[in-house]
Amino acid sequence: MTRIGIVAEPPGENRVAATPLTVQKIVALGYEVVLAAGAGAASAFPDQAYADAGATVVDEATAWAADVVLTIAPPQPADIARLSDDATLIGMLSPALRPDLVEALSTRGITALAMDAVPRISRAQSMDVLSSMANISGYRAVVEAAHEFGRFFTGQVTAAGKVPPAKVLVAGAGVAGLAAIGTASSLGAVVRATDPRPEVADQVRSIGGEYLAVEVAEQMVSSDGYAKATSEAYDRRAAEIYSEQAADVDIIITTALIPGRPAPRLITADDVARMKPGSVIVDMAAAQGGNVAGSVAGERVVTDNGVVILGYTDLAGRLPAQASQLYGTNVLNLLKLLTPGKDGRMVLDFDDVVQRGVTVVRDGRSTWPPPPVQVSAAPPARTTDAAAAAPPAKTGLSRTARTALAVAGAAVLFGLSAIAPEPLPQHLTVLTLSVVVGFYVISKVTHALHTPLMSVTNAISGIIIVGAIVQLAAPGLVVQILAAVAVLLASINIFGGFAVTRRMLGMFSKGDAR
Ligand code: NAI
Repeated sequence: MTRIGIVAEPPGENRVAATPLTVQKIVALGYEVVLAAGAGAASAFPDQAYADAGATVVDEATAWAADVVLTIAPPQPADIARLSDDATLIGMLSPALRPDLVEALSTRGITALAMDAVPRISRAQSMDVLSSMANISGYRAVVEAAHEFGRFFTGQVTAAGKVPPAKVLVAGAGVAGLAAIGTASSLGAVVRATDPRPEVADQVRSIGGEYLAVEVAEQMVSSDGYAKATSEAYDRRAAEIYSEQAADVDIIITTALIPGRPAPRLITADDVARMKPGSVIVDMAAAQGGNVAGSVAGERVVTDNGVVILGYTDLAGRLPAQASQLYGTNVLNLLKLLTPGKDGRMVLDFDDVVQRGVTVVRDGRSTWPPPPVQVSAAPPARTTDAAAAAPPAKTGLSRTARTALAVAGAAVLFGLSAIAPEPLPQHLTVLTLSVVVGFYVISKVTHALHTPLMSVTNAISGIIIVGAIVQLAAPGLVVQILAAVAVLLASINIFGGFAVTRRMLGMFSKGDAR
Protein backbone atom coordinates (compact mmCIF):
# COMPACT_ATOMS: atom_id res chain seq x y z
CA MET A 1 0.00 0.00 0.00
CA THR A 2 1.33 3.45 -0.90
CA ARG A 3 2.36 5.40 2.20
CA ILE A 4 1.78 9.13 2.40
CA GLY A 5 3.89 11.15 4.88
CA ILE A 6 2.89 14.49 6.39
CA VAL A 7 6.06 16.28 7.51
CA ALA A 8 6.52 19.01 10.13
CA GLU A 9 7.01 22.43 8.53
CA PRO A 10 10.11 24.55 9.27
CA PRO A 11 10.01 27.26 11.98
CA GLY A 12 7.97 30.30 10.89
CA GLU A 13 5.50 28.19 8.87
CA ASN A 14 2.45 27.58 11.05
CA ARG A 15 0.43 25.67 8.48
CA VAL A 16 0.45 21.93 7.85
CA ALA A 17 -0.18 20.12 4.56
CA ALA A 18 -3.02 17.89 5.83
CA THR A 19 -5.59 18.12 8.62
CA PRO A 20 -7.46 15.34 10.45
CA LEU A 21 -10.43 15.92 8.11
CA THR A 22 -8.37 15.58 4.94
CA VAL A 23 -6.41 12.63 6.36
CA GLN A 24 -9.69 10.75 6.81
CA LYS A 25 -10.43 11.27 3.10
CA ILE A 26 -6.89 10.36 2.01
CA VAL A 27 -7.26 7.08 3.93
CA ALA A 28 -10.59 6.52 2.13
CA LEU A 29 -8.68 6.80 -1.18
CA GLY A 30 -6.79 3.67 -0.13
CA TYR A 31 -3.56 5.23 1.19
CA GLU A 32 -1.70 4.58 4.42
CA VAL A 33 -0.94 7.90 6.18
CA VAL A 34 1.92 8.68 8.57
CA LEU A 35 2.37 12.00 10.37
CA ALA A 36 5.53 13.47 11.90
CA ALA A 37 4.76 13.95 15.60
CA GLY A 38 3.60 17.49 16.34
CA ALA A 39 3.28 18.46 12.64
CA GLY A 40 -0.20 19.98 13.17
CA ALA A 41 0.45 21.57 16.57
CA ALA A 42 0.94 25.14 15.29
CA SER A 43 -2.40 24.88 13.47
CA ALA A 44 -4.09 23.56 16.63
CA PHE A 45 -4.49 20.00 15.27
CA PRO A 46 -3.19 17.58 17.93
CA ASP A 47 -1.54 14.26 17.01
CA GLN A 48 -4.44 12.41 18.61
CA ALA A 49 -6.91 13.96 16.14
CA TYR A 50 -4.79 12.65 13.25
CA ALA A 51 -4.57 9.23 14.91
CA ASP A 52 -8.36 9.17 15.28
CA ALA A 53 -8.62 10.01 11.56
CA GLY A 54 -6.54 6.95 10.66
CA ALA A 55 -2.93 8.25 10.57
CA THR A 56 0.02 6.71 12.38
CA VAL A 57 2.19 9.17 14.32
CA VAL A 58 5.87 8.61 13.50
CA ASP A 59 9.19 10.48 13.76
CA GLU A 60 10.31 13.15 11.30
CA ALA A 61 12.71 10.90 9.32
CA THR A 62 10.03 8.23 8.81
CA ALA A 63 7.55 10.83 7.49
CA TRP A 64 10.16 12.14 4.98
CA ALA A 65 10.91 8.54 3.88
CA ALA A 66 7.28 7.84 2.84
CA ASP A 67 6.37 7.04 -0.80
CA VAL A 68 4.54 10.36 -1.15
CA VAL A 69 5.55 13.36 0.98
CA LEU A 70 3.14 16.24 1.59
CA THR A 71 4.66 19.56 2.58
CA ILE A 72 3.96 23.29 2.26
CA ALA A 73 7.39 24.94 2.46
CA PRO A 74 9.91 24.04 -0.27
CA PRO A 75 12.32 21.33 1.01
CA GLN A 76 15.82 22.16 2.24
CA PRO A 77 18.79 20.22 0.72
CA ALA A 78 18.87 18.01 3.85
CA ASP A 79 15.18 17.17 3.34
CA ILE A 80 15.76 16.24 -0.31
CA ALA A 81 18.42 13.78 0.89
CA ARG A 82 15.89 12.23 3.28
CA LEU A 83 13.41 11.40 0.48
CA SER A 84 13.35 7.75 -0.51
CA ASP A 85 14.14 6.68 -4.09
CA ASP A 86 11.08 6.92 -6.39
CA ALA A 87 9.32 9.17 -3.87
CA THR A 88 6.76 11.79 -4.93
CA LEU A 89 7.03 15.20 -3.26
CA ILE A 90 3.98 17.49 -3.25
CA GLY A 91 4.40 21.07 -1.98
CA MET A 92 4.72 24.78 -2.81
CA LEU A 93 7.90 24.63 -4.88
CA SER A 94 7.80 28.01 -6.74
CA PRO A 95 9.52 26.39 -9.76
CA ALA A 96 9.42 29.60 -11.81
CA LEU A 97 11.37 31.49 -9.16
CA ARG A 98 13.55 28.63 -7.86
CA PRO A 99 15.47 26.99 -10.75
CA ASP A 100 18.05 25.94 -8.12
CA LEU A 101 15.39 23.88 -6.31
CA VAL A 102 14.20 22.25 -9.55
CA GLU A 103 17.80 21.27 -10.27
CA ALA A 104 18.36 19.95 -6.73
CA LEU A 105 15.17 17.87 -6.94
CA SER A 106 16.17 16.37 -10.28
CA THR A 107 19.41 15.03 -8.77
CA ARG A 108 17.25 12.36 -7.10
CA GLY A 109 15.16 9.79 -8.96
CA ILE A 110 12.00 11.38 -7.61
CA THR A 111 8.85 13.06 -8.90
CA ALA A 112 8.02 16.56 -7.65
CA LEU A 113 4.60 18.21 -8.00
CA ALA A 114 4.22 21.95 -7.35
CA MET A 115 0.87 22.90 -5.81
CA ASP A 116 1.55 26.53 -6.76
CA ALA A 117 1.77 25.62 -10.46
CA VAL A 118 -1.84 24.47 -10.84
CA PRO A 119 -3.16 26.18 -14.02
CA ARG A 120 -5.87 28.78 -13.40
CA ILE A 121 -8.67 26.96 -15.24
CA SER A 122 -12.17 26.18 -13.96
CA ARG A 123 -11.55 22.44 -13.68
CA ALA A 124 -8.48 23.00 -11.50
CA GLN A 125 -10.04 25.56 -9.15
CA SER A 126 -10.49 23.00 -6.39
CA MET A 127 -6.69 22.47 -6.37
CA ASP A 128 -5.64 26.12 -6.78
CA VAL A 129 -3.64 26.85 -3.62
CA LEU A 130 -2.59 30.30 -4.82
CA SER A 131 -6.25 31.32 -4.90
CA SER A 132 -7.23 29.68 -1.63
CA MET A 133 -4.23 31.20 0.18
CA ALA A 134 -4.71 34.63 -1.48
CA ASN A 135 -8.34 34.63 -0.35
CA ILE A 136 -7.32 34.03 3.27
CA SER A 137 -4.49 36.57 2.97
CA GLY A 138 -6.79 39.30 1.62
CA TYR A 139 -9.05 38.78 4.64
CA ARG A 140 -6.12 38.79 7.02
CA ALA A 141 -4.63 41.94 5.42
CA VAL A 142 -7.78 43.81 6.48
CA VAL A 143 -7.63 42.31 9.97
CA GLU A 144 -3.97 43.41 10.29
CA ALA A 145 -4.84 46.90 9.03
CA ALA A 146 -7.78 47.13 11.45
CA HIS A 147 -5.48 46.08 14.28
CA GLU A 148 -3.03 48.89 13.47
CA PHE A 149 -5.67 51.52 12.71
CA GLY A 150 -6.69 53.48 15.80
CA ARG A 151 -10.30 53.97 14.72
CA PHE A 152 -13.53 52.20 13.81
CA PHE A 153 -14.01 50.90 10.30
CA THR A 154 -17.74 51.53 10.43
CA GLY A 155 -19.33 54.96 10.78
CA GLN A 156 -21.39 55.53 13.93
CA VAL A 157 -23.62 58.17 15.43
CA THR A 158 -23.15 58.04 19.20
CA ALA A 159 -24.09 60.26 22.14
CA ALA A 160 -20.43 61.24 22.27
CA GLY A 161 -20.36 62.37 18.65
CA LYS A 162 -20.43 61.25 15.03
CA VAL A 163 -17.76 58.84 13.80
CA PRO A 164 -17.08 58.81 10.04
CA PRO A 165 -16.46 55.43 8.37
CA ALA A 166 -12.87 54.52 7.48
CA LYS A 167 -11.95 54.85 3.82
CA VAL A 168 -10.07 51.93 2.30
CA LEU A 169 -8.39 51.76 -1.11
CA VAL A 170 -7.60 48.33 -2.54
CA ALA A 171 -5.19 48.32 -5.48
CA GLY A 172 -5.57 45.18 -7.58
CA ALA A 173 -8.89 43.32 -7.49
CA GLY A 174 -7.71 39.75 -8.07
CA VAL A 175 -8.38 36.99 -5.56
CA ALA A 176 -6.64 38.68 -2.60
CA GLY A 177 -7.99 42.12 -3.53
CA LEU A 178 -11.61 40.93 -3.76
CA ALA A 179 -11.30 39.19 -0.38
CA ALA A 180 -9.93 42.42 1.11
CA ILE A 181 -12.73 44.52 -0.46
CA GLY A 182 -15.43 42.16 0.86
CA THR A 183 -13.92 42.04 4.35
CA ALA A 184 -13.39 45.82 4.66
CA SER A 185 -16.85 46.61 3.36
CA SER A 186 -18.47 44.08 5.70
CA LEU A 187 -16.70 45.86 8.58
CA GLY A 188 -18.47 49.02 7.44
CA ALA A 189 -15.67 50.89 5.68
CA VAL A 190 -16.08 52.87 2.47
CA VAL A 191 -14.06 50.79 -0.01
CA ARG A 192 -12.66 51.81 -3.39
CA ALA A 193 -10.69 49.60 -5.75
CA THR A 194 -8.58 49.84 -8.89
CA ASP A 195 -7.60 47.16 -11.39
CA PRO A 196 -6.53 47.38 -15.03
CA ARG A 197 -9.02 44.62 -15.95
CA PRO A 198 -12.39 46.40 -16.42
CA GLU A 199 -14.23 43.07 -16.18
CA VAL A 200 -13.71 43.10 -12.39
CA ALA A 201 -15.82 46.28 -11.97
CA ASP A 202 -19.05 44.34 -11.38
CA GLN A 203 -17.37 41.93 -8.98
CA VAL A 204 -16.04 44.90 -6.98
CA ARG A 205 -19.48 46.51 -6.81
CA SER A 206 -21.25 43.27 -5.94
CA ILE A 207 -19.24 43.01 -2.71
CA GLY A 208 -19.78 46.59 -1.67
CA GLY A 209 -16.79 48.38 -3.24
CA GLU A 210 -16.60 51.29 -5.66
CA TYR A 211 -14.57 50.61 -8.82
CA LEU A 212 -12.28 53.50 -9.70
CA ALA A 213 -11.89 53.16 -13.45
CA VAL A 214 -8.56 54.31 -14.85
CA GLU A 215 -9.95 55.75 -18.05
CA VAL A 216 -7.53 55.43 -20.94
CA ALA A 217 -8.21 54.69 -24.63
CA GLU A 218 -7.23 51.03 -24.56
CA GLN A 219 -8.88 48.65 -22.10
CA MET A 220 -7.24 45.49 -20.88
CA VAL A 221 -9.19 42.24 -21.16
CA SER A 222 -7.65 39.20 -19.56
CA SER A 223 -7.81 35.91 -21.43
CA ASP A 224 -6.38 33.78 -18.64
CA GLY A 225 -7.52 35.39 -15.39
CA TYR A 226 -4.19 37.19 -15.01
CA ALA A 227 -3.38 40.78 -15.94
CA LYS A 228 -0.96 41.75 -18.72
CA ALA A 229 1.52 44.61 -18.42
CA THR A 230 -0.21 47.99 -18.21
CA SER A 231 0.45 50.77 -20.75
CA GLU A 232 2.30 54.01 -20.02
CA ALA A 233 -0.93 56.01 -20.39
CA TYR A 234 -2.62 53.72 -17.88
CA ASP A 235 0.22 54.03 -15.38
CA ARG A 236 0.21 57.83 -15.69
CA ARG A 237 -3.54 58.15 -15.07
CA ALA A 238 -3.41 55.53 -12.30
CA ALA A 239 -0.61 57.48 -10.57
CA GLU A 240 -2.84 60.58 -10.50
CA ILE A 241 -5.65 58.56 -8.95
CA TYR A 242 -3.32 57.07 -6.32
CA SER A 243 -2.00 60.47 -5.27
CA GLU A 244 -5.56 61.89 -5.01
CA GLN A 245 -6.71 58.85 -3.04
CA ALA A 246 -3.66 58.78 -0.75
CA ALA A 247 -4.63 62.19 0.62
CA ASP A 248 -8.20 61.01 1.24
CA VAL A 249 -8.16 57.38 2.41
CA ASP A 250 -7.09 55.93 5.79
CA ILE A 251 -6.00 52.49 4.65
CA ILE A 252 -4.41 51.21 1.44
CA ILE A 253 -4.11 47.51 0.66
CA THR A 254 -2.08 46.68 -2.44
CA THR A 255 -2.28 43.31 -4.18
CA ALA A 256 -1.19 44.21 -7.72
CA LEU A 257 0.66 41.47 -9.53
CA ILE A 258 1.40 40.44 -13.09
CA PRO A 259 2.72 36.86 -13.11
CA GLY A 260 6.38 36.50 -14.02
CA ARG A 261 7.18 40.18 -13.38
CA PRO A 262 8.30 42.11 -10.34
CA ALA A 263 5.37 43.77 -8.55
CA PRO A 264 4.40 47.11 -10.17
CA ARG A 265 5.23 50.14 -8.01
CA LEU A 266 1.91 51.90 -7.45
CA ILE A 267 2.23 53.98 -4.29
CA THR A 268 5.20 56.36 -4.34
CA ALA A 269 7.04 57.91 -1.40
CA ASP A 270 5.16 61.18 -2.18
CA ASP A 271 1.82 59.36 -1.93
CA VAL A 272 2.83 57.88 1.44
CA ALA A 273 3.91 61.35 2.62
CA ARG A 274 0.48 62.68 1.63
CA MET A 275 -1.37 60.22 3.91
CA LYS A 276 -2.68 61.25 7.33
CA PRO A 277 -0.74 60.16 10.44
CA GLY A 278 -2.20 56.91 11.77
CA SER A 279 -3.00 55.65 8.26
CA VAL A 280 -2.07 52.06 7.43
CA ILE A 281 -0.76 50.44 4.25
CA VAL A 282 -0.62 46.68 3.75
CA ASP A 283 1.67 45.80 0.83
CA MET A 284 0.71 42.24 0.00
CA ALA A 285 3.21 42.13 -2.86
CA ALA A 286 6.16 42.98 -0.58
CA ALA A 287 7.76 39.58 -1.28
CA GLN A 288 7.78 40.32 -5.05
CA GLY A 289 9.49 43.70 -4.66
CA GLY A 290 6.49 45.61 -3.32
CA ASN A 291 3.73 47.85 -4.71
CA VAL A 292 4.58 50.52 -2.14
CA ALA A 293 7.72 52.65 -1.76
CA GLY A 294 9.30 51.97 1.62
CA SER A 295 7.69 48.59 2.33
CA VAL A 296 10.01 45.85 3.58
CA ALA A 297 9.16 42.16 3.07
CA GLY A 298 8.14 40.58 6.35
CA GLU A 299 8.42 43.84 8.33
CA ARG A 300 6.31 46.57 9.95
CA VAL A 301 7.68 50.00 9.08
CA VAL A 302 6.53 53.33 10.52
CA THR A 303 7.26 56.36 8.32
CA ASP A 304 8.27 59.84 9.52
CA ASN A 305 4.71 61.07 9.03
CA GLY A 306 3.29 58.27 11.18
CA VAL A 307 2.03 55.90 8.46
CA VAL A 308 2.37 52.19 9.25
CA ILE A 309 3.45 50.04 6.27
CA LEU A 310 3.02 46.29 6.74
CA GLY A 311 4.96 44.04 4.37
CA TYR A 312 4.00 40.74 5.98
CA THR A 313 4.58 37.77 3.70
CA ASP A 314 2.93 35.14 5.88
CA LEU A 315 -0.63 36.45 5.93
CA ALA A 316 -2.25 33.06 5.18
CA GLY A 317 -0.08 31.44 7.89
CA ARG A 318 -1.53 33.94 10.37
CA LEU A 319 -4.81 32.01 10.12
CA PRO A 320 -3.09 28.60 10.29
CA ALA A 321 -6.05 26.33 11.05
CA GLN A 322 -8.13 27.78 8.21
CA ALA A 323 -5.21 27.93 5.79
CA SER A 324 -4.20 24.31 6.55
CA GLN A 325 -7.76 23.13 6.01
CA LEU A 326 -8.01 24.81 2.58
CA TYR A 327 -4.47 23.82 1.54
CA GLY A 328 -5.15 20.27 2.73
CA THR A 329 -8.38 20.17 0.70
CA ASN A 330 -6.52 21.43 -2.41
CA VAL A 331 -3.95 18.62 -1.93
CA LEU A 332 -6.73 16.06 -1.35
CA ASN A 333 -8.38 17.11 -4.63
CA LEU A 334 -5.07 16.64 -6.46
CA LEU A 335 -4.68 13.21 -4.83
CA LYS A 336 -8.20 12.28 -6.02
CA LEU A 337 -7.18 13.23 -9.57
CA LEU A 338 -4.00 11.16 -9.25
CA THR A 339 -5.87 8.15 -7.86
CA PRO A 340 -8.50 7.31 -10.50
CA GLY A 341 -9.02 3.79 -9.12
CA LYS A 342 -9.44 5.01 -5.49
CA ASP A 343 -7.16 2.07 -4.69
CA GLY A 344 -4.19 3.81 -3.06
CA ARG A 345 -2.22 3.71 -6.34
CA MET A 346 -0.97 7.00 -7.76
CA VAL A 347 -1.02 7.35 -11.55
CA LEU A 348 0.46 10.44 -13.23
CA ASP A 349 -1.23 11.15 -16.57
CA PHE A 350 0.74 13.60 -18.72
CA ASP A 351 -2.15 14.00 -21.19
CA ASP A 352 -4.05 15.83 -18.46
CA VAL A 353 -3.12 19.56 -18.47
CA VAL A 354 -3.46 19.87 -14.71
CA GLN A 355 -1.22 16.91 -13.92
CA ARG A 356 1.27 17.99 -16.58
CA GLY A 357 1.16 21.57 -15.27
CA VAL A 358 2.06 20.71 -11.68
CA THR A 359 4.83 18.24 -12.55
CA VAL A 360 8.20 19.90 -12.09
CA VAL A 361 10.37 16.77 -12.00
CA ARG A 362 9.36 13.30 -13.20
CA ASP A 363 11.46 10.27 -12.22
CA GLY A 364 14.53 12.47 -11.76
CA ARG A 365 14.12 14.49 -14.99
CA SER A 366 13.12 18.15 -14.97
CA THR A 367 9.84 18.70 -16.84
CA TRP A 368 9.65 22.42 -16.03
CA PRO A 369 8.27 24.58 -17.60
CA PRO A 370 5.11 22.82 -18.86
CA PRO A 371 3.61 23.79 -22.24
CA PRO A 372 1.29 26.82 -21.97
CA VAL A 373 -2.35 26.04 -21.16
CA GLN A 374 -5.11 27.47 -23.36
CA VAL A 375 -7.78 28.91 -21.09
CA SER A 376 -10.61 31.37 -21.47
CA ALA A 377 -11.37 33.22 -18.24
CA ALA A 378 -12.96 36.07 -20.20
CA PRO A 379 -14.21 36.61 -23.75
CA PRO A 380 -11.35 37.26 -26.18
CA ALA A 381 -10.46 40.92 -26.62
CA ARG A 382 -11.76 42.69 -29.72
CA THR A 383 -8.79 43.51 -31.84
CA THR A 384 -10.14 45.86 -34.52
CA ASP A 385 -8.91 49.44 -34.68
CA ALA A 386 -12.45 50.61 -34.14
CA ALA A 387 -12.56 48.69 -30.87
CA ALA A 388 -9.23 50.14 -29.79
CA ALA A 389 -10.46 53.64 -30.51
CA ALA A 390 -13.81 53.05 -28.80
CA PRO A 391 -14.65 55.18 -25.76
CA PRO A 392 -14.05 53.68 -22.32
CA ALA A 393 -16.33 50.77 -21.44
CA LYS A 394 -19.68 51.32 -19.69
CA THR A 395 -18.01 50.34 -16.43
CA GLY A 396 -16.09 53.62 -16.63
CA LEU A 397 -19.26 55.74 -16.11
CA SER A 398 -18.90 57.18 -12.63
CA ARG A 399 -21.73 57.21 -10.10
CA THR A 400 -21.92 61.02 -10.35
CA ALA A 401 -22.28 60.83 -14.14
CA ARG A 402 -25.07 58.25 -13.82
CA THR A 403 -26.91 60.36 -11.22
CA ALA A 404 -26.55 63.45 -13.46
CA LEU A 405 -28.00 61.48 -16.40
CA ALA A 406 -30.98 60.30 -14.34
CA VAL A 407 -31.67 63.80 -13.01
CA ALA A 408 -31.39 65.28 -16.55
CA GLY A 409 -33.85 62.63 -17.86
CA ALA A 410 -36.31 63.44 -15.07
CA ALA A 411 -36.00 67.19 -15.78
CA VAL A 412 -36.78 66.64 -19.49
CA LEU A 413 -39.90 64.61 -18.61
CA PHE A 414 -41.08 67.33 -16.16
CA GLY A 415 -40.52 69.96 -18.86
CA LEU A 416 -42.58 67.94 -21.35
CA SER A 417 -45.42 67.48 -18.84
CA ALA A 418 -45.66 71.27 -18.44
CA ILE A 419 -46.24 71.87 -22.16
CA ALA A 420 -48.09 68.70 -23.23
CA PRO A 421 -51.90 68.74 -23.87
CA GLU A 422 -54.34 66.98 -21.45
CA PRO A 423 -54.32 64.11 -20.28
CA LEU A 424 -50.63 63.64 -21.13
CA PRO A 425 -49.25 65.78 -18.23
CA GLN A 426 -50.66 63.42 -15.54
CA HIS A 427 -49.20 60.39 -17.31
CA LEU A 428 -45.84 62.08 -17.73
CA THR A 429 -45.80 63.12 -14.05
CA VAL A 430 -46.46 59.52 -12.98
CA LEU A 431 -43.76 58.28 -15.37
CA THR A 432 -41.24 60.86 -14.08
CA LEU A 433 -41.89 60.00 -10.46
CA SER A 434 -41.58 56.27 -11.26
CA VAL A 435 -38.23 56.86 -12.99
CA VAL A 436 -36.85 58.81 -10.01
CA VAL A 437 -38.16 56.40 -7.35
CA GLY A 438 -37.10 53.36 -9.43
CA PHE A 439 -33.59 54.74 -9.91
CA TYR A 440 -33.05 55.30 -6.20
CA VAL A 441 -34.62 51.99 -5.14
CA ILE A 442 -32.64 49.92 -7.65
CA SER A 443 -29.33 51.70 -7.03
CA LYS A 444 -29.63 50.87 -3.31
CA VAL A 445 -30.09 47.14 -4.00
CA THR A 446 -26.85 45.17 -4.20
CA HIS A 447 -25.89 44.10 -7.75
CA ALA A 448 -26.09 40.41 -6.99
CA LEU A 449 -29.80 40.79 -6.16
CA HIS A 450 -30.81 42.66 -9.32
CA THR A 451 -32.08 39.59 -11.15
CA PRO A 452 -34.34 38.40 -8.30
CA LEU A 453 -35.50 42.00 -7.94
CA MET A 454 -36.45 42.13 -11.63
CA SER A 455 -38.34 38.89 -11.45
CA VAL A 456 -40.26 39.95 -8.34
CA THR A 457 -41.24 43.24 -9.96
CA ASN A 458 -43.09 41.14 -12.53
CA ALA A 459 -45.82 41.23 -9.92
CA ILE A 460 -46.59 44.68 -11.28
CA SER A 461 -48.43 42.75 -13.97
CA GLY A 462 -51.12 42.46 -11.29
CA ILE A 463 -52.39 45.83 -12.57
CA ILE A 464 -52.94 44.28 -16.00
CA ILE A 465 -54.94 41.46 -14.42
CA VAL A 466 -57.18 43.93 -12.56
CA GLY A 467 -57.79 45.91 -15.78
CA ALA A 468 -58.42 42.74 -17.79
CA ILE A 469 -60.91 41.38 -15.21
CA VAL A 470 -62.88 44.64 -15.45
CA GLN A 471 -62.90 44.26 -19.25
CA LEU A 472 -64.15 40.64 -19.01
CA ALA A 473 -67.61 42.01 -18.18
CA ALA A 474 -67.52 44.44 -21.13
CA PRO A 475 -69.84 43.84 -24.10
CA GLY A 476 -68.26 42.39 -27.24
CA LEU A 477 -66.69 38.96 -27.72
CA VAL A 478 -63.37 40.28 -29.09
CA VAL A 479 -62.79 42.47 -25.99
CA GLN A 480 -63.65 39.55 -23.70
CA ILE A 481 -61.26 37.21 -25.53
CA LEU A 482 -58.47 39.81 -25.40
CA ALA A 483 -59.14 40.34 -21.67
CA ALA A 484 -58.96 36.57 -21.02
CA VAL A 485 -55.66 36.32 -22.92
CA ALA A 486 -54.33 39.31 -20.92
CA VAL A 487 -55.25 37.59 -17.63
CA LEU A 488 -53.52 34.40 -18.76
CA LEU A 489 -50.30 36.08 -19.95
CA ALA A 490 -50.02 38.38 -16.93
CA SER A 491 -50.56 35.41 -14.60
CA ILE A 492 -47.74 33.49 -16.33
CA ASN A 493 -45.56 36.57 -15.89
CA ILE A 494 -46.34 36.88 -12.18
CA PHE A 495 -46.07 33.21 -11.20
CA GLY A 496 -43.05 32.68 -13.46
CA GLY A 497 -41.42 35.72 -11.84
CA PHE A 498 -41.94 34.33 -8.35
CA ALA A 499 -40.62 30.92 -9.44
CA VAL A 500 -37.44 32.54 -10.84
CA THR A 501 -37.05 34.67 -7.69
CA ARG A 502 -37.32 31.60 -5.53
CA ARG A 503 -34.63 29.79 -7.53
CA MET A 504 -32.34 32.81 -7.52
CA LEU A 505 -32.68 33.37 -3.77
CA GLY A 506 -32.04 29.64 -3.27
CA MET A 507 -28.59 30.24 -4.74
CA PHE A 508 -27.82 32.68 -1.90
CA SER A 509 -29.01 30.35 0.86
CA LYS A 510 -26.19 28.67 2.76
CA GLY A 511 -28.06 25.35 3.01
CA ASP A 512 -27.09 22.79 5.67
CA ALA A 513 -23.87 23.75 7.41
CA ARG A 514 -21.35 21.01 6.82
P1 NAI B 1 -4.19 37.84 -8.78
O1 NAI B 1 -3.39 37.59 -10.01
O2 NAI B 1 -5.47 37.12 -8.59
O3 NAI B 1 -4.48 39.40 -8.63
C1 NAI B 1 -3.56 40.39 -8.93
C2 NAI B 1 -4.37 41.56 -9.44
O4 NAI B 1 -3.51 42.67 -9.65
C3 NAI B 1 -5.04 41.26 -10.78
O5 NAI B 1 -6.42 41.47 -10.67
C4 NAI B 1 -4.39 42.25 -11.71
O6 NAI B 1 -5.28 42.70 -12.72
C5 NAI B 1 -4.00 43.36 -10.76
N1 NAI B 1 -2.99 44.25 -11.30
C6 NAI B 1 -1.97 43.98 -12.13
N2 NAI B 1 -1.29 45.11 -12.41
C7 NAI B 1 -1.90 46.11 -11.75
C8 NAI B 1 -1.68 47.51 -11.66
N3 NAI B 1 -0.67 48.10 -12.29
N4 NAI B 1 -2.52 48.23 -10.89
C9 NAI B 1 -3.56 47.66 -10.23
N5 NAI B 1 -3.80 46.33 -10.28
C10 NAI B 1 -3.00 45.57 -11.04
O7 NAI B 1 -3.21 37.58 -7.57
P2 NAI B 1 -3.63 37.24 -6.07
O8 NAI B 1 -3.67 35.79 -5.91
O9 NAI B 1 -4.80 38.06 -5.68
O10 NAI B 1 -2.35 37.78 -5.27
C11 NAI B 1 -2.13 39.18 -5.16
C12 NAI B 1 -0.79 39.45 -4.48
O11 NAI B 1 -0.82 39.04 -3.14
C13 NAI B 1 0.38 38.73 -5.13
O12 NAI B 1 1.50 39.60 -5.15
C14 NAI B 1 0.63 37.58 -4.18
O13 NAI B 1 1.94 37.12 -4.24
C15 NAI B 1 0.33 38.26 -2.89
N6 NAI B 1 0.06 37.38 -1.78
C16 NAI B 1 0.64 37.73 -0.61
C17 NAI B 1 0.47 36.98 0.49
C18 NAI B 1 1.11 37.45 1.74
O14 NAI B 1 1.13 36.71 2.72
N7 NAI B 1 1.61 38.66 1.78
C19 NAI B 1 -0.32 35.72 0.45
C20 NAI B 1 -0.98 35.48 -0.81
C21 NAI B 1 -0.77 36.29 -1.90
